[in-house]
Amino acid sequence: HWLLLLPCPTSSLLSANVPQRSFGIDYDCNCFVKDGSPFRYISGSIHYSRIPRYYWKDRLVKMKMAGLDAIQMYVPWNYHEPRPGVYDFSGDRDLEYFLQLAHETGLLVILRAGPYICAEWDMGGLPAWLLEKESIVLRSSDLDYLAAVGKWMSVLLPKMTRYLYQKGGPIIMVQVENEYGSYFACDYDYLRFLQKLFRQYLGDEVVLFTTDGASKSHLRCGALQGLYATVDFAPGVNVTAAFLTQRASEPTGPLVNSEFYTGWLDHWGHRHSVVPAQAIAKTLNEILARGANVNLYMFIGGTNFGYWNGANMPYLPQPTSYDYDAPLSEAGDLTEKYFALREVIGMVSILRTCLGYNSSLFFFNFSFVCFCLLFCFFFFF
Ligand SMILES: *[C@@H]1O[C@H](CO)[C@@H](O)[C@H](O)[C@H]1NC(C)=O
Repeated sequence: HWLLLLPCPTSSLLSANVPQRSFGIDYDCNCFVKDGSPFRYISGSIHYSRIPRYYWKDRLVKMKMAGLDAIQMYVPWNYHEPRPGVYDFSGDRDLEYFLQLAHETGLLVILRAGPYICAEWDMGGLPAWLLEKESIVLRSSDLDYLAAVGKWMSVLLPKMTRYLYQKGGPIIMVQVENEYGSYFACDYDYLRFLQKLFRQYLGDEVVLFTTDGASKSHLRCGALQGLYATVDFAPGVNVTAAFLTQRASEPTGPLVNSEFYTGWLDHWGHRHSVVPAQAIAKTLNEILARGANVNLYMFIGGTNFGYWNGANMPYLPQPTSYDYDAPLSEAGDLTEKYFALREVIGMVSILRTCLGYNSSLFFFNFSFVCFCLLFCFFFFF
């Protein structure tokens, strides 16, 4: 009889040992904490709206094989609500299927839920039908605008709840608005409205954050207490100076570059933008050497199908291709840049294996990292 009873205490012991899924910010170690351990992510941007559903899995696997921990993705509102109150989450718009695929591929998700996303996407993701109200002031606490945003988020955010990391899903962080500090309105009440809305549907545990250009003036109107402020910047900049601007808003906590540009967008009639792989690899190295988190924007650009391309002001439209000179080409092929960046990411993984992740030296002392790299080579070969 005792044999039959044996599995009971054993299984209860096991379930007690299963660590709870948690993700948050540790302001003492200046890092993220996942399941109780310090965590740093290297992520890449992919937009499901720019890739046919048929290829989603292929692209995600190629991102995983580059050594990425996570993907970062936008949700374009106008792609899902073509007319007021009419919603489309089918086929190429099957956002939940995309999240499931990412999860199955072993990639975490950083969700940029809008309502505004920019992304060189038509009207930055805002539905054109908002303009039927002529007096509307977009991206502000204009009542008509807020009513439409509130209604859309009451559809989108409840769908996202079960994909949160704490609930067993892949989503570790959710971005509110997008580079709001670059917009003229500078309306804190609008950001507060969004913060409350997101918390209402997603709960208190999920990390909410903002992203802005790495300068004081951008962060002035883009950052809000309660939303973790991150920055974005391109290869070739002074990485120390760029992260110091984030430190002005977030004196402690993880360093994050939410958009580290692997290439650049194109404008109709201009030459295709090309950024050399070596320049990107060099700055990526510098970012990672200080233990910062980084998202490669884009890891795969894809295509602006139909008329979903955006335009800049003064009027400069984007073409159909959103290749972006990214590590994966518009067609999803591996490029020289893919292999160059995979090498940089691979180095970090070797160091992580060698040193463990808790080493504060790993975070801050680049020369120590170099020494350890040599040591690792001797140790393994
Ligand atoms: C980068 O910026 C830091 C902080 O502003 C400054 O101390 C340093 O001299 C800069 N480095 C270069 C190479 O300009």
